[in-house]
Amino acid sequence: MVIPFEYAPGATPIDPDEALGLIPTHITTQADLNAWEEMNIVDGEDWMMRQKIIKKLDEGLVRELHRRMFNQTWKWAGKFRQSNKSIGIDWSQIAVSLKDLLDNTAYQIENQIMKPDEIAIRFHHELVLIHAFPNGNGRHARLMADALIVSLGGKRFSWGGSMPLTNAGITRQNYLSALRAADSGYLESLLLFARQ
Ligand SMILES: Nc1ncnc2c1ncn2[C@@H]1O[C@H](COP(=O)(O)OP(=O)(O)OP(=O)(O)O)[C@@H](O)[C@H]1O
Ligand SMILES: [Mg+2]
Repeated sequence: MVIPFEYAPGATPIDPDEALGLIPTHITTQADLNAWEEMNIVDGEDWMMRQKIIKKLDEGLVRELHRRMFNQTWKWAGKFRQSNKSIGIDWSQIAVSLKDLLDNTAYQIENQIMKPDEIAIRFHHELVLIHAFPNGNGRHARLMADALIVSLGGKRFSWGGSMPLTNAGITRQNYLSALRAADSGYLESLLLFARQ
């Protein structure tokens, strides 16, 4: 069964071989897929938020959260991508770049280089730029940033307020333009957006 996938602006298209990794066999439409993914993500979110404090910011945690968010949906849940996408670094560099990011973030936390919000939002942006997984990078990197800020004693981010970020709409447009500003080194819009 081939699902006619629909993509919100700024979403990463799924390759045909990645699409073969779909676990549930009853899904035939994008709406079914969205609802199924959402259920799965709630499990991942519950697991992450039960941890309260991130003990070790390492590759294992990053992958485990992605696995728990998507393990009933995609066979490649928790596994790094093996092809290039329009966003993201060359796939062969993912493990190394992620390690750099995690080490730098741990250093920033330990030495209180920046305010907690700035550390977590910078981490979100750089994580989504690495784009470690075939899909689900946005949702995963937002939840990672939430877990990080809670761990640092802050409140979870609002990510633009109560409107869903996953479909096309003004909130998503604002999110994407804030990310593009961060791409050029200006983090302020993303910081404001995350607390709107
Ligand atoms: N110019 C950009 N710079 C940095 N990150 C970007 C840019 N454009 C898109 N992104 C990120 O890539 C994500 C889309 O990647 P992907 O489709 O893997 O994630 P997703 O979780 O499936 O999508 P969504 O965030 O829509 O739920 C966006 O949510 C956003 O976080
Ligand atoms: Mg996507």
